[in-house]
Amino acid sequence: MVCASAKMQKKSPFSLSGVFYTLLSISVVFAQPSPNVQKRISQAIAAASNQTDIDYTAFVNPFIGTDNFGDVCPGASIPFGMAKFSPDMTGYAPAGYVTDNTQFIRGMSPLHDSGTGSSLGTYGNFEIMPLLCPGGFDTCTTTLAARERLRKNNTDDASPGYFSLTLDNNIQMEATATRRAGLERFTFPTGSTPYFVLDLANDLPASFAGGNLTIDPTLGRVMIGGHWGSSFGPGNFHYQAFACYDLLDGGKQELAEYGVWTGDTEGLDAKGLGQTHLNLSINLIGGVYESGALFSYANKPKTVNIRVGVSFRSEEQACANAESEIGNATFEEIEAQAKALWQEKLSKIEIDVPGTPPNVTEMLYSSLYRGSLTPNNATDETQGVFENTTSFYFDSLYCSWDTFRTFYPLMALHSPVEFAQIVDNYIDGWRKNGWMPECRANNLPGWTQGGSSGDNIVAQFAVSYHNEAEALGIDLDELYAAVVTDAEVNPPEWNIEGRQSNVYNQYGYVPFAVLDVSSTGRQTREGSRTLEYAFEDFGIRQVAQVLGKADDVAKYTNRSLSYRNVWDAAVTSDGFKGFSQKRYSNGTFFFVDPVECSPNDPNPNSECSLQGDNESGFYEASSWEYSWYVPHDTNHLIQLMGGNDTFVKRLDHFFSAGYFDPSNEPSFQTPIGYHYANQPTKSVDQVRKVVLNNFDITPAGLPGNDDQGAMATVLSFHLLGLYPVPSSTQLLVLSPFTPKYTIHNSFLNVSTTVTTVNYNAKSVQTTIPAGVAAYVKSVTVNGVPASSRCHVDFYDTFRVGGDVVITLTSDKTEANSCLGSVPESISAGGFTQAR
Ligand SMILES: *[C@@H]1O[C@H](CO)[C@@H](O)[C@H](O)[C@H]1NC(C)=O
Ligand SMILES: *[C@@H]1O[C@H](CO)[C@@H](O)[C@H](O)[C@H]1NC(C)=O
Ligand SMILES: *[C@@H]1O[C@H](CO)[C@@H](O)[C@H](O)[C@H]1NC(C)=O
Ligand SMILES: *[C@@H]1O[C@H](CO)[C@@H](O)[C@H](O)[C@H]1NC(C)=O
Ligand SMILES: *[C@@H]1O[C@H](CO)[C@@H](O)[C@H](O)[C@H]1NC(C)=O
Ligand SMILES: *[C@@H]1O[C@H](CO)[C@@H](O)[C@H](O)[C@H]1NC(C)=O
Ligand SMILES: *[C@@H]1O[C@H](CO)[C@@H](O)[C@H](O)[C@H]1NC(C)=O
Ligand SMILES: *[C@@H]1O[C@H](CO)[C@@H](O)[C@H](O)[C@H]1NC(C)=O
Ligand SMILES: *[C@@H]1O[C@H](CO)[C@@H](O)[C@H](O)[C@H]1NC(C)=O
Ligand SMILES: *[C@@H]1O[C@H](CO)[C@@H](O)[C@H](O)[C@H]1NC(C)=O
Ligand SMILES: *[C@@H]1O[C@H](CO)[C@@H](O)[C@H](O)[C@H]1NC(C)=O
Ligand SMILES: *[C@@H]1O[C@H](CO)[C@@H](O)[C@H](O)[C@H]1NC(C)=O
Repeated sequence: MVCASAKMQKKSPFSLSGVFYTLLSISVVFAQPSPNVQKRISQAIAAASNQTDIDYTAFVNPFIGTDNFGDVCPGASIPFGMAKFSPDMTGYAPAGYVTDNTQFIRGMSPLHDSGTGSSLGTYGNFEIMPLLCPGGFDTCTTTLAARERLRKNNTDDASPGYFSLTLDNNIQMEATATRRAGLERFTFPTGSTPYFVLDLANDLPASFAGGNLTIDPTLGRVMIGGHWGSSFGPGNFHYQAFACYDLLDGGKQELAEYGVWTGDTEGLDAKGLGQTHLNLSINLIGGVYESGALFSYANKPKTVNIRVGVSFRSEEQACANAESEIGNATFEEIEAQAKALWQEKLSKIEIDVPGTPPNVTEMLYSSLYRGSLTPNNATDETQGVFENTTSFYFDSLYCSWDTFRTFYPLMALHSPVEFAQIVDNYIDGWRKNGWMPECRANNLPGWTQGGSSGDNIVAQFAVSYHNEAEALGIDLDELYAAVVTDAEVNPPEWNIEGRQSNVYNQYGYVPFAVLDVSSTGRQTREGSRTLEYAFEDFGIRQVAQVLGKADDVAKYTNRSLSYRNVWDAAVTSDGFKGFSQKRYSNGTFFFVDPVECSPNDPNPNSECSLQGDNESGFYEASSWEYSWYVPHDTNHLIQLMGGNDTFVKRLDHFFSAGYFDPSNEPSFQTPIGYHYANQPTKSVDQVRKVVLNNFDITPAGLPGNDDQGAMATVLSFHLLGLYPVPSSTQLLVLSPFTPKYTIHNSFLNVSTTVTTVNYNAKSVQTTIPAGVAAYVKSVTVNGVPASSRCHVDFYDTFRVGGDVVITLTSDKTEANSCLGSVPESISAGGFTQAR
């Protein structure tokens, strides 16, 4: 997850849990969102039948993950919308919104990311705040500090494509959205004159670097544009953004007063009635200054409708986007259109609603919603080196290290067209910048976490859709050239977009404290970077295999085994022997206590993210956690750990001793490790615990940052009883939380129904009760028994359509083997040919 400046601040998971408990005790008085949100969802689920006309948008709770550092944006958005209209709040609120009712509202704004943990927040430009200024124009509270207000308790509301919040002065703010525009509706107390402050300078990270604002009073239009900085990347770069606010609702509304203002926190609070222009450059001495427009409406209207367009190219394009995407449409029309777009996405997976526990239905559809909320589709809104690109363009790839594990594998099951567009965008990053993006956000490079995780994303596409790649607009040779560049061409500065490939390729691991004369980056994470680079090499190997490049298959297969080079067989912890460790270039291991940066780390000051302190060899995780991370060669890992029995005991200990950290991505596949030791029932038990101890339908219902849908999609897989091996087409079989579901793939024109025979809703508990069927007895695919009950392949199932039947039993002993092959591993002769 993240994207970690949050963790950079929070020091360690240990102190993180401290914060968590503090907030939990406050959450007793949390009064958001409106109780009607859950009531409405519960009623919709209760009323739904398993007919085909189900409104899946009614099951989505956009507030899940808006507390407890989930950092989800609940604002109004279409699928992959570039615009996400949400209020911005004070305190720790990277996505703008939090449920915490002690935080103040700064305004509502059109640009946000979702699920990212950057400590200062991301976007939040162009905030608008409705005001009552009983003393008139000059008395309006325009600066941030002066205008912030609390909300009315129990009033926040949201559904796909819609958001609403009511301030404590009874002004309601609502929004709905298109891809690059939206409509805002403000309802004022009867008899008041509506005033609005529109903010030019403030964004959430306070990164303003100059901009303009122009009011055209005749047109009733405010055009704004400027430059701002990164939320999770170097401060050296700035991006441009623009907005166009149309204030007159097609002539139905009339302005009374208008003007501009500037202010700061040191006493500047100046207003210019009748002035129409601001032109401000970057403040080089530092500090945040504030400025914007201020206007009011004639005739005391009860509601005010404002149309907003955004663009990353120009003010004119921001206005044109509003005109083309909204035109004269009403709020209700745009809301209905947004909802229809969501219904199209959500209905790609249909479940047996009456047979499924309501909380599971709500968690699943809310997760599928967030699985299509980002990355933000900024196609035709490119800037910088992408200015003239003809490729698709997505912002908020935040970060690839988070999303390659489950986000893109889920997309591969049902949405190859969208997946191909995002792959095109990754390849275009290589074309324009030299390497594929690792963590692009705010249209700027973000910090590297694992290396070049984009390799695993495009590899997922290549292994899944190489037969259709051309039809989907992807040139596989170019895709391959991009991943090979990531592996072979050392970027001069690998803190952004890339690997320290020179030393990794030379030593077979990323050495600690190595002389590197040709590239720069922060000397940290040598253990986890080696493990991630190795898995990235597996991704490249998989593409080489698809393309029939035998020599490269051998080369990258070898490199994918580099994880072995950081395995220190001598390290012992809690009686278990052998752990991943960072290592000097002379081969000597550098001992890091495997407990460090785990939830059991006794040192609250351990630096576990990107901090300058270079002691921890593992990124946002411990060696206890990362030592499991060999998804492509677990069979050999089992040997390193001392065989199946020891491996299973070690996994048991890992969970019971509390080393598992469900809040972050390196942990995603660990609970399913038992499959590889031929004890699949233990994976089923563990996944039940992971889901029910860490996820629920409340705002605090995510264990950590959603990370651009990473958490949402790992939960989706758990609920569907599947787990993907990234960069492959293998799907591990677990125990679905629903009796029946169908995944539609409209591009391939196939539908696949998974039926869970003997499903028992009583199994949806932390501990599966004795006698309740929950363990996989058999798997058949289109009537033919699968060769193993532990795994199936995408090519035999969701690619061809038809029926998958998972029959469950309560007989755990009988079910505790794969009855066939364990999942594939390179060293056990797995992954021998492309499907
Ligand atoms: C919201 O409720 C809390 C108690 O839960 C109370 O302290 C606070 O004043 C209320 N906020 C408003 C705006 O009424
Ligand atoms: C609806 O679900 C029930 C229970 O799972 C099942 O018996 C019935 O056949 C389903 N009906 C349709 C139309 O799928
Ligand atoms: C203001 O806008 C003009 C014209 O678009 C542009 O040339 C200028 O650089 C902008 N100024 C700032 C400070 O962004
Ligand atoms: C804003 O000021 C800059 C100089 O700081 C000037 O180049 C630009 O033309 C001005 N833009 C407008 C729209 O007045
Ligand atoms: C919107 O309404 C205005 C005024 O009624 C009209 O001139 C314009 O053509 C309309 N635009 C669209 C896109 O319908
Ligand atoms: C995009 O095209 C315009 C017009 O040809 C050119 O001025 C500009 O430099 C190009 N931008 C890039 C990044 O190539
Ligand atoms: C992104 O936007 C472009 C341009 O409107 C559109 O063609 C494409 O289908 C969109 N893709 C997604 C995934 O939303
Ligand atoms: C793979 O590694 C082995 C052992 O290190 C080596 O003998 C072999 O030549 C390598 N193969 C390739 C293709 O690099
Ligand atoms: C390797 O280098 C480290 C750090 O300089 C040193 O402590 C260690 O003794 C060296 N090992 C060998 C075998 O020389
Ligand atoms: C970081 O690495 C440098 C170079 O090996 C070393 O001198 C320094 O002590 C290390 N710092 C920590 C906190 O490990
Ligand atoms: C673990 O057990 C499975 C199934 O019996 C077997 O295929 C595999 O080789 C074993 N792994 C090791 C490392 O012994
Ligand atoms: C559903 O979730 C709510 C909120 O977390 C919880 O209070 C309730 O117990 C759950 N219901 C079931 C049946 O698990």
